[in-house]
Amino acid sequence: MSKAKEVKKLAGRAAVENHVRNNQVLGIGSGSTIVPAVQRIAERVKQENLNLVCIPTSFQARQLILQYGLILSDLDRHAEMDLAIDGADEVDADLSLIKGGGDCLTQEKIVAGYASRFIVIADFRKDSKNLGDQWHKGIPIEVIPMACVPVRRAVT
Ligand code: A5P
Repeated sequence: MSKAKEVKKLAGRAAVENHVRNNQVLGIGSGSTIVPAVQRIAERVKQENLNLVCIPTSFQARQLILQYGLILSDLDRHAEMDLAIDGADEVDADLSLIKGGGDCLTQEKIVAGYASRFIVIADFRKDSKNLGDQWHKGIPIEVIPMACVPVRRAVT
């Protein structure tokens, strides 16, 4: 296993150990780091007979939830979550984040916004003093089509 995969796995599993409890509604983030977290959630559901409901933040997250046999729901049925768990592209010393490098920013923000707690899984490679130290691809912005012109103006 590559170093990157190994640290993602350690971080993802630790987040699940430390924060997931029985009878929770969970927001499930997107990207590669969330994969080992979902694997660990599925293991714990089997081992500890946990009752968990999962709300995806993307098509990828939805597929993961289904692939690992977890209970899939949505904001219509569960408009509030105990916890949303997601990855990040970079984290600074104040815990500000760059997110959305995987193109799921809008859904991630919506889901996180309805969760009581937001847990970010980030391994040491994403730990920066200042945002932009490690992540050089710019700040992701996801814009719904009708807001394109005003958002472009605001950003400019
Ligand atoms: C998805 O849009 C992103 O916000 C991801 O959570 C972020 O890019 C982290 O992705 P990785 O876990 O693949 O590094």
